[in-house]
Amino acid sequence: MLTTIEWTGSALRLLDQTRLPGEVVYVDLTTPASVHDAIKRLVVRGAPAIGVAAAFGAYLGVRAAVDATGDTADAALAKLDDTCRYLATARPTAVNLFWALDRVQRVVRGTGVPPVNTAAQATVAARSTGFQPVPDDASAIAQRVLQEAQLMLKEDAQICDQLGEQLLPLLLRHQKFDRPLTLLTHCNAGALATCGIGTATAPMYLAHARGIPLKVYADETRPLLQGARLTATELRRAGIDVTVLCDNMSASLMAGGAVDAVVVGTDRVAADGGVANKVGTLGVAILAKHFGVPFYVAAPTSSIDPHLPHGRDIPIEHRAATEVTRWGGVPTAEDGVAVYNPAFDVTPFELVTAIVTEHGVWKKS
Ligand code: MRU
Repeated sequence: MLTTIEWTGSALRLLDQTRLPGEVVYVDLTTPASVHDAIKRLVVRGAPAIGVAAAFGAYLGVRAAVDATGDTADAALAKLDDTCRYLATARPTAVNLFWALDRVQRVVRGTGVPPVNTAAQATVAARSTGFQPVPDDASAIAQRVLQEAQLMLKEDAQICDQLGEQLLPLLLRHQKFDRPLTLLTHCNAGALATCGIGTATAPMYLAHARGIPLKVYADETRPLLQGARLTATELRRAGIDVTVLCDNMSASLMAGGAVDAVVVGTDRVAADGGVANKVGTLGVAILAKHFGVPFYVAAPTSSIDPHLPHGRDIPIEHRAATEVTRWGGVPTAEDGVAVYNPAFDVTPFELVTAIVTEHGVWKKS
């Protein structure tokens, strides 16, 4: 399996996902500006991976200040806050970015648990019982940020495994008796979006490892083709039976009864259960409802934003027109045409069969 994110000991190593599937290229980043750029350009993408990359970016900011000036603890904390504020501007929709930055800031101050979710916080909370004084020298502060980023990377892999264990039995309930478990997914909520076996793909990897017959349909996912370029690539490399289809083909696929269940990831779940995910997910959910196909969302609790009451309030990133009007430099629409290019949409909870977290299932009553 391709490694998405790694700490080399001195740099943040990312697989450059803009180059897949043609080339496997890793980049080593040593500054917050390069991490910000990598998140913005989708060198690293997918909500959990963005969060972990940002945590390392925060460390790189503090380390640079300490290396340059041997700063005081106060100056190192100020640098951490500045760097986090800056990294938070890279992309607006995935709440994991803000969750991760908040977490490193809180852990360094010994105030413990970030407010966004309850997931890996059990670990943080356990470590934070009792007062942890703020380290009194700048390099100890930098070290604490690095340790937290490394912990988040490790925890993310464990959370993916837990998501797979939660999801697989639910999905298997929908398997038709005479064929492999047949799943449809949209975008990439896979290993390439996380530090483990993915969120929506976790049950796929588990099923495959356990010898459960499995077939996956991967929506191409226009405009940036995360389904075709990333999901299909990683599943195929793992030996999983995967078929790519253009986004406008999923209706005919479902109409023919070919899909047992849809499973997707998420960038943010609001308190009303509204699910932001890659644009096109809403259309798939509406189709699934129409054809009576169950629609599951794999959501690590780091992607849940209980402070945002409504899905409709989730900030949606709009991206460059050229993502729609060009592919690999080749025009796909006439220059100057007006373009609508939201990167995400929001699926209301009423279209969702269940939101599945690493701790259990959030289901309609
Ligand atoms: O724009 P991207 O590629 O970052 O969008 C990614 C998605 O929409 C994923 O489905 C989501 O982040 C979940 S990843 C586990």
